[in-house]
Amino acid sequence: MAPLLPDDVTPDPTRMLAAWIDEARATSQPQPTAMALATAAADGRPSARMVFVRGWGPDGLDWLTDSASRKAREAVARPDAAGLFYWAGLGRQVRVEGPVRLLPDDAVAAYFARRRPETRLAARAWRQGERLGSRADLHRRIATARAQDDPGGVPDGWIGQRLEPRAIEFWQEDPDGLHDRLLAVRGASGWVVERLAP
Ligand SMILES: Cc1cc2nc3c(=O)[nH]c(=O)nc-3n(C[C@H](O)[C@H](O)[C@H](O)COP(=O)(O)O)c2cc1C
Repeated sequence: MAPLLPDDVTPDPTRMLAAWIDEARATSQPQPTAMALATAAADGRPSARMVFVRGWGPDGLDWLTDSASRKAREAVARPDAAGLFYWAGLGRQVRVEGPVRLLPDDAVAAYFARRRPETRLAARAWRQGERLGSRADLHRRIATARAQDDPGGVPDGWIGQRLEPRAIEFWQEDPDGLHDRLLAVRGASGWVVERLAP
């Protein structure tokens, strides 16, 4: 793979990020749009989990989740987060940091329209993070939801959130250990890109 140069990343590193996600999909990397998302509680304690990024572009990285979930509540109360992609087959990692915003209802509806019916069913059957007595509860909840009409649209309580990149760090593996690490930070007059030691 060709070394990574600052000119590849400028003037808009979000394009490079989108190109890397597109390349991960085009080369059939496992779960190419899966991103580890780190949020922090009010007391600063961090937590992380995976989300599927549904949209990526100059405005940021979008995911869907339940507003009752820990990640959603933390990102609303303290709207700063970090995202991480790793594509082992490409030897690439990307870190993204920035503020988190709520997506408008029409954008959430458009993402939901593309989801498989089973995932819509689960979203209607329970609130993410609810305490359950047993696995049988899951079956009961699904059966109840299936027996009810699906009103369509966005299941109650589901929201979309967007991580707006303030900093993006691209890491690309080199077989001799001379890994490329380029940090792009958004400033008042555009993005500034620096090379960091790996
Ligand atoms: C590959 C992968 C993708 C996932 N995508 C999502 C997602 O897009 N939205 C979501 O709410 N949970 C997703 N999950 C489940 C979350 O990782 C997590 O278990 C759940 O959202 C509850 O997290 P929280 O309690 O920290 O909010 C995904 C899990 C995996 C393993």
